[in-house]
Amino acid sequence: MTSAQFDFSPLLPAGLPAPAAKWAGLAKYSFIGGNNDPDQVPVDGLIEAVNAVLKREGKTLATYGLASGPQGYRRLREFLTTKLKRDAGINCVADDILIVSGSLQALDLVNATLLARGDTVIIERDTYQGALNRLTRLGVNLVGIPLDREGMRMDALAAALEDLKRRGIMPKYIYTIHIGSFSKSIAPALRVGYIVAPWAALSRMLALKTDAGSGALEQMVLAEYCAPHFAAHVPKLTRGLRAKLDTLMEALNEQFGTSAEFEDPKGGIFLWVKLPDNVDTLKLYQSALAAGVAINPGPEWSTDKAYAGSRLRLCFANPSHEQIREGVAVLAEVCRKEFGVPARIANVEKRARS
Ligand SMILES: Cc1ncc(COP(=O)(O)O)c(C=O)c1O
Repeated sequence: MTSAQFDFSPLLPAGLPAPAAKWAGLAKYSFIGGNNDPDQVPVDGLIEAVNAVLKREGKTLATYGLASGPQGYRRLREFLTTKLKRDAGINCVADDILIVSGSLQALDLVNATLLARGDTVIIERDTYQGALNRLTRLGVNLVGIPLDREGMRMDALAAALEDLKRRGIMPKYIYTIHIGSFSKSIAPALRVGYIVAPWAALSRMLALKTDAGSGALEQMVLAEYCAPHFAAHVPKLTRGLRAKLDTLMEALNEQFGTSAEFEDPKGGIFLWVKLPDNVDTLKLYQSALAAGVAINPGPEWSTDKAYAGSRLRLCFANPSHEQIREGVAVLAEVCRKEFGVPARIANVEKRARS
């Protein structure tokens, strides 16, 4: 009997998440996920790095944890201490770092170490869906704080803390532990992330990390590539992303006119867009997908579903400039047909469907 014929359903325990959808390939115009710019993956540098590091240290792959122990490849942790000092003002040593499989595993380990069902945490209102889903699944109460260009709005945070105090609730975390990954700076498919924390916390997380170590080759290649090249790679990547963001904002202005509101973000690979209140982006998501355009509907990326109802989030790093222009034009056409906005597309007056 093949596994396809076997009925697993009576065996499944209660409380599992909904089953994953089968992957159907990327949409023709994909503005979702944290996918990066394919032309900015430093392929030649990574090839050189893999050759050099395997020739020098390949035999260490014979041991779990390489020759560096369970916290991850030491040279990578050493590179991170320099990067964290330069980019984030964090003073730490290699022993304060645990290498993990992407920042998603970092979130799992931090949450498993700190949270119990019924706890309360404070997070940014508009944030990564993977962080929201994890907390919801753990049965944790989320208090979302509205944002400004610097992060959480301090007045809103103070008010939320005051409110919780009045109700006798102590939040478990706000921004407690620094985590990061190489997904946005080098390549997400490598699945390399890190946690920075004192041993008292790291030792708890390490005890919960039961995968016998994150992929070693990726760590070795990253260390070999990043130590000499990271500082020059990132500004180049940023310039390319900035150009794509400009294309996206131009395309939105051209296709949606004043119907699309957004702020020019300081960095990153996502643009949040506000459409008129009558646009339901959960519905727009479905019809846009049918037309080949994948977007992130706002409510899946915010603690405040009503606030985010007419908002969407677009990743601009992966599509080409041409795909960005074409994809936004298709999106505007779908949105006009379904919601009557934008009434004008590309400066041509269109009659909205009633
Ligand atoms: C599709 C997807 N997976 C995972 C992540 C989380 O990041 P990491 O790759 O560091 O685990 C992101 C972040 O944007 C993402 O978009």
